[in-house]
Amino acid sequence: MQFFVDTAEVAEIAELAEAGLVDGVTTNPSLILKSGRNILEVTREICALVDGPVSAEVTAVKLDEMVAEGRRLAEIAPNIAIKLPLTWDGLKACRILTGEGRMVNVTLCFSAAQALLAARAGATFISPFIGRLDDINLDGLDLIADIRRIYDNYGFQTKILAASIRSVNHVTEVAKIGADVATVPPGVLRALVRHPLTDRGLEQFLADWARTGQRIL
Ligand code: E4P
Repeated sequence: MQFFVDTAEVAEIAELAEAGLVDGVTTNPSLILKSGRNILEVTREICALVDGPVSAEVTAVKLDEMVAEGRRLAEIAPNIAIKLPLTWDGLKACRILTGEGRMVNVTLCFSAAQALLAARAGATFISPFIGRLDDINLDGLDLIADIRRIYDNYGFQTKILAASIRSVNHVTEVAKIGADVATVPPGVLRALVRHPLTDRGLEQFLADWARTGQRIL
C-alpha cells in the first residue's frame, strides 16, 4: 500500500519525504486554509518536493468552471491530480479531464454506489472518507471493503485512496482490506512506528549493553 500525506504543510512533507514515506500528497480547501498559504504557491512547492501525485482540489461546483479550475491547477506541475467532488458535474468534469490525460482524484465519497460511478467516469483515484463515516456511527472500513470487491469484480483500474484516516488502526485495517493508497495525516504517519514494547525493549537492550562495557565503533 502506498502512503500519501494528507496536509498542505510543506515542512512536514519535507521531513516525512526524507524518511522515504511520501508516495504522494493530498490537500483540500480546509488544509489550504490551515496552512495560511496561497493555493497555487504552496501546491507548486509541494510538487517540487514530491515526485508522486499531488492532489489539488477545485472549488467551483459548475461543470465549466470545474474544468477550467482543474486545467489551471494541472498547469502547476505534471504530477498534479485534480481533485473533484463526487457530484454529477464532478463526474462529467472527471470524464473530460481524464480524457485530456490528466490524473483525477474524485473526493467526498461516502458510498459504494458513488465509487462505482467514479470508476465508470474514469477516475484515477477514488477517495472514500473513513473517519467521517465513523463520526456518524457508520463503519468506514466496510465501505473500503465494498469498493475493493466491486472494483475487483469488474477489473476497474481506479485506485482506492482511503481518506479521512484518523488512527493507526485505520491504516492497518485498510491495508488488510487492500486499499491501494492511504492518505494519512502527518501525526498518524509518525505514530505508525510507535509501540510501547519497542520502547521498553530498546531501553533494556541499551541498559544491558552499557553493562558489557563494549563499543562497536
Ligand atoms: C483527503 O483527501 C481528505 O480531504 C481528507 O483525508 C479528509 O480528512 P478529514 O475527514 O479528517 O478532514
